[in-house]
Amino acid sequence: MIVVTGATGTIGRALVAELGGAARAVVRRAEQGEELADKLGCDYVVGDLERPESIPLEPGDRLFLNSSQWPGFARAHKAVIDRAAAADVAQVVTVSVLGVTSGSLLGFGMHGQVDEHLRASGVPWAILAPVGFMQNLAGDVDEEGRIVGAYGRGGVGYIDARDIAAVAAALLTRPVGPGATYDLTGPAAPTHDEIAAELTRALGRAVRYVDLTVQEAAVHLEQRGMPAPAARDLAELMAQIGDGRWAGTTTTVADILGRKPRSLREFLG
Ligand SMILES: NC(=O)c1ccc[n+]([C@@H]2O[C@H](COP(=O)([O-])OP(=O)(O)OC[C@H]3O[C@@H](n4cnc5c(N)ncnc54)[C@H](OP(=O)(O)O)[C@@H]3O)[C@@H](O)[C@H]2O)c1
Repeated sequence: MIVVTGATGTIGRALVAELGGAARAVVRRAEQGEELADKLGCDYVVGDLERPESIPLEPGDRLFLNSSQWPGFARAHKAVIDRAAAADVAQVVTVSVLGVTSGSLLGFGMHGQVDEHLRASGVPWAILAPVGFMQNLAGDVDEEGRIVGAYGRGGVGYIDARDIAAVAAALLTRPVGPGATYDLTGPAAPTHDEIAAELTRALGRAVRYVDLTVQEAAVHLEQRGMPAPAARDLAELMAQIGDGRWAGTTTTVADILGRKPRSLREFLG
């Protein structure tokens, strides 16, 4: 059985759609499971990553371990990995972020901690390490048609989360290979000015990118309700992303799927 956590999320739902009856979706509420089972033909179980014992794991199962983040994310994910190792699970596939370490800022650091734990756990593993998701971009446009950030003019190889799900499905259904980290990007790395132009075309209203310094971006985020330390770290992360570390593209999606990842224009339709 392929056990899929985060099954109601962006990647998880697309993954369950690819796997159908081979998937056992882990959901926090039974009605979510019923909806997935009806629409996608999967099995489901109610569980919560905060309670590792509620994640059903049998010897030989393969586990897709993914969720949004909360303060207890690293502790919970590490505990589930330990449980998977103890249960003789055949493979754990996780979603991290490209290039993170345990010392990275905010949620990136939590991913780095989980990645280190998984690599040392003894359970066969694969880490998907994408850049930002195309799915977020339209939501970043504010009521005045602005995307506000501190990315500068650096490109970012945004990826369609459905391509991440397709890679996960391939890795979870083919023979388990050696532990590996898969750096995942879309086919191009547009700047935020270019992204704003694509959004203008797709949304039919003017969108522009407003580039701020780290300090200005931190004030902007704080004014929008973010606590000051998190605002400062997020602004710093945006500048780090914009310094070119996510400006490259990889061929990993095409190598695994035999087709190119979706472009931003294809994604926006
Ligand atoms: N967004 C990006 O640009 C980006 C880039 C790189 C990496 N990532 C990483 O991608 C991951 C998120 O993937 P996604 O966008 O597919 O997720 P998502 O759409 O935000 O959905 C989150 C999923 O996690 C589940 N969840 C949250 N807390 C849980 C818990 N305690 N126990 C069980 N399930 C729980 C949610 O269930 P409910 O429906 O019950 O809430 C939901 O299914 C994060 O680790 C993030 O850091 C994101």
